[in-house]
Amino acid sequence: MAQSSTAAGREANLLERSAELAVLAEQLKAVTSRAGGRLAFVAGEAGVGKTALVRRFAATLPATVQLMSGACDALVTPRPLAPFLDVAALTGGELEELALARTGAKPHEFAAGLMRELRQRAPSVIVLEDLHWADAATLDVLRIVARRVESVDSLIIATFRDDELDRMHPLRMLLGGLAGAGAVTRIKLAALSEAAVAQLAEPYGVDATELYRLTSGNAFYVTEVLAGGTHAVPATVQDAVLARTAGSARPAARWSKLHPSCPRPPSSGSSRRCAPRPSGTSTNAWPQASSPRRRMESPSGTSWRAWRWRHRCP
Ligand SMILES: Nc1ncnc2c1ncn2[C@@H]1O[C@H](COP(=O)(O)OP(=O)(O)OP(=O)(O)O)[C@@H](O)[C@H]1O
Ligand SMILES: [Mg+2]
Repeated sequence: MAQSSTAAGREANLLERSAELAVLAEQLKAVTSRAGGRLAFVAGEAGVGKTALVRRFAATLPATVQLMSGACDALVTPRPLAPFLDVAALTGGELEELALARTGAKPHEFAAGLMRELRQRAPSVIVLEDLHWADAATLDVLRIVARRVESVDSLIIATFRDDELDRMHPLRMLLGGLAGAGAVTRIKLAALSEAAVAQLAEPYGVDATELYRLTSGNAFYVTEVLAGGTHAVPATVQDAVLARTAGSARPAARWSKLHPSCPRPPSSGSSRRCAPRPSGTSTNAWPQASSPRRRMESPSGTSWRAWRWRHRCP
């Protein structure tokens, strides 16, 4: 997947993930030492850093390990077998033929083709991203492969937002069915600590305690607010966050704290500031962390009451 240099730069500074990277490395070791294939689920809320973790791990793979990846998309009509079609486009051959079959391959046929492909390409790592959006056929293929993964020298890494799985979500059923399977590992990503947020915020001279309080350490919020470089969160970031958090309760609740359309009344707490200042910018535009804290204002500078009424905030 294409990555901007900014995103790549930010991912270079991956904090507090050494334990998770070590777990993935351990799974890979089992695969490369021919102790059998593994399936690792990487779970966490929207924006916690699942993709960044997996990309960092993928970047460390030896040249002898083949890397293939695919992703599910947030479509109203999900593309059947979406992440496996991405993988098939990379492998070509029989798997691609199955993927392109006019009538569409059945999950068990596709799973059998995938297992054959994995045997030929050992050792390999397959990354399947965003399974919370997977269609039923994708989950069926994964269910079939998961039960047989020990027979191929492959590490399958599957990411998903665990805050988007309600009790009846089909992925939850799949996870429940695999509970206790020896070849299956779950890695749960936690939000960044206050110390990590402070480390990321340090070059910008922002009030790290306030940034942590507002973001609760969600890596996406933290990095995007810092990259935004304005007192208000940029509209593009607002759109990105709202798209990411649609259907996700916890980040959405946090976003309501960040979102400028619903600031808290000045009386509800002290004045607050979350004003990222990229290095090199003028201190006029970016108050220093040590400067007196500014009261949070509506974007237009109108009174809280008038602004709140205009934006229909409760
Ligand atoms: N451990 C980390 N340390 C520093 N920055 C991080 C870390 N993890 C992620 N980030 C930053 O946060 C951004 C969001 O992370 P990422 O896209 O990996 O989240 P995600 O969990 O995959 O989100 P989604 O659920 O939307 O797919 C990344 O672009 C990266 O810049
Ligand atoms: Mg992701």
